[in-house]
This record gives sequence, structure tokens and C-alpha cells, in this order.
Amino acid sequence: MKFQTLASVLSSTAALFTHAATAQKTVCAGSTGDWFSMAVYPQIHNATYDSTFDMDYYSQQQMPLVYSLFKPFGMAGYTITTFGRDAPYSTLTLMYFATAEQFEEAFAAHGEEIYAKVPLFSSEVPPHYVGQVYNITV
Ligand SMILES: *[C@@H]1O[C@H](CO)[C@@H](O)[C@H](O)[C@H]1NC(C)=O
Repeated sequence: MKFQTLASVLSSTAALFTHAATAQKTVCAGSTGDWFSMAVYPQIHNATYDSTFDMDYYSQQQMPLVYSLFKPFGMAGYTITTFGRDAPYSTLTLMYFATAEQFEEAFAAHGEEIYAKVPLFSSEVPPHYVGQVYNITV
């Protein structure tokens, strides 16, 4: 810190605010009571095995496709989060719906098509679970 010039502190602070402003526009946190589907992508890294995950493809192709297919069933938005290599999962995605039935209908209609594309970006098949937003404090 002591080697930083005032200008660099100011510009990194500005970058933080810019980043926060961008996040505000793009992050969907859902609302209390919303239902969500959670997809988690396992990762294994050891001497003989390395999981792969192409976040560019996932964030730019796969999730926009999922959203376009699920939106007519009521999908309200989604959040993609990433983890470090030490975590058991590389990526966790929450897809928000007003009711669990909306997700079930969306998944029944398009789940197979969506899962068929997983090998295009991930070496691991993601389990998914359905849950409900209990509390949000921001
Ligand atoms: C690495 O992970 C793979 C996949 O889970 C497993 O089959 C293999 O036994 C592991 N190898 C080592 C050296 O732990």
C-alpha cells in the first residue's frame, strides 16, 4: 500500500465502483420466496485428472441459451458464481423462478437439449437441485 501513488489508489477505487455499477446491472439476486434451480459443476484436479470448464462458452453461449429457452416458462434471471481450484465445485449457477412448477415445466421441455450441450464446455456433468430463496440482505 505504501508504494501506491495517490493516482493509482484513486484509479483502483474508480475501478471498484465501475465494477460494482456493472455488477448492479447484470447480477440477479432473486427475491425472498423465489424458487431457484442450482447447477453445480464439480472439479477434480490431481496427478492424473484435470476437470475442464470453459467459462467463456458457458457465460456467453450456454447460459444465454438456457435463459432464452426457460424465460417463456417464467425464469426471472440467473447468477453464475465461480470458486477456486481448492473447492469441490468450479462453478455454481442459480436460475430464478417464481415457483418450483415453472422450473419443472421448463426442465421437462428443454432439460435434455441443455444437458446434451454440457460436453461442449465442461468435463463434468452438473447435478442440479431445486431450492427456495430464504433471505436476501443487500
Ligand atoms: C484423480 O481423480 C480421478 C477422477 O476422480 C480418479 O479416478 C483418480 O483415481 C485420481 N487419481 C489420483 C492419483 O488421486
